[in-house]
Amino acid sequence: MQTNLLNEFEKIYHKKPVYKYFSPGRVNLIGEHIDYNGGLVLPCAITFGTYLIIAPNNDGKFRFKSLNFSDSLEISIETSYEKSGEFWFNYPLGIINSFIKNGCQIGGLDMLFYGDIPIGSGLSSSASIEVVTAFALNKINLFDYEKLDLVKLSKSVENDFIGVNCGIMDQFAVAFGEKNKALMLNCNTLNYEAVEVNLGDSFLTIINTNKPRKLAGSKYNERVIECGTALKALQNELKIEYLCDIDAQVFSQYSYLIKDEVILKRARHVIEENDRVKLAAKALRENNLVEFGKLMYASHTSLQDLYEVSGIELDTIVEYCKADNNVVGARMTGAGFGGCAIAIVKQSAFNDFQDKISNYYSNIIGYAPSVYHSLIGNGVGELTL
Ligand code: GLA
Repeated sequence: MQTNLLNEFEKIYHKKPVYKYFSPGRVNLIGEHIDYNGGLVLPCAITFGTYLIIAPNNDGKFRFKSLNFSDSLEISIETSYEKSGEFWFNYPLGIINSFIKNGCQIGGLDMLFYGDIPIGSGLSSSASIEVVTAFALNKINLFDYEKLDLVKLSKSVENDFIGVNCGIMDQFAVAFGEKNKALMLNCNTLNYEAVEVNLGDSFLTIINTNKPRKLAGSKYNERVIECGTALKALQNELKIEYLCDIDAQVFSQYSYLIKDEVILKRARHVIEENDRVKLAAKALRENNLVEFGKLMYASHTSLQDLYEVSGIELDTIVEYCKADNNVVGARMTGAGFGGCAIAIVKQSAFNDFQDKISNYYSNIIGYAPSVYHSLIGNGVGELTL
């Protein structure tokens, strides 16, 4: 695909590209629905991602084309832009809009995107395209933004231009990812520790439910609001800014402040999951994969029963994994409501796992999942053409 991309660029734009960039997707190993609650998450960058090939033009135009979608956009340089429809190019357009609003001048650009992350599967294809665009524009125009500023800019595009209320985890992970490491990120301070992930003779396996995620956005926002309600109740007695400012022990003393059963369950998940991230990072540091696997299963159960963001598809995958001796641990990853699960699977048994889980899942759900493994890769960067 690499050489193909250059050929495709020349075919489309009738000139040679000048720059090439790549930003990965991500999986979150543990710490789900924590980022907007100011706690700890443990994501890592994967080796699937978004490529962006660019050449400047003198026509005063931005041209957006993709090898994944037939829709494209050609637009003159203006002082601001608005989202149009649900097109993929809203992501890079939003990034350009943010730079321009910050007073940055950008000349015309011919852009070609290609992504090998399954789109809308919860592996952060949107953060990947945002961050690769922000990184590229910053480099080409010598804007001198720090990487963290690009992360914040990309998140604000997702929140304000696209209209999704997400936290900062995805953009952070795809920007700062490190090969063979997970990032234990404190989503309040934005400090992080890169923790070595030594999977030994196992693969980081991704199982895509292939379920269309129609309700994901509205249910996600509902959870954000529920956490706000829980926080407000706790703030009647506690001086805290985020739910993750307390641990499970303190929570047990003050949980009586939350009267609503559903809100109580949401808060319990968040606070206990935050504690699990610390234990999971410790297990990784100690090379204790068995313990790590147990924490993955516990995280899934909590997302299933307390946070209620799983679903029969993800639960079927995790249920299969629990019964397979070649799986060390498994859980849903990302927002939930479909999307992907991750599992740690013995390399020697991978093909067998792939066949068996596909059969098991297809029999119950009615269609097949996609099963693949990924290495843990680096964050956004420039590639040689
Ligand atoms: C989505 C959001 C993230 C995070 C996860 C849940 O991926 O984009 O900010 O909230 O869901 O952990």
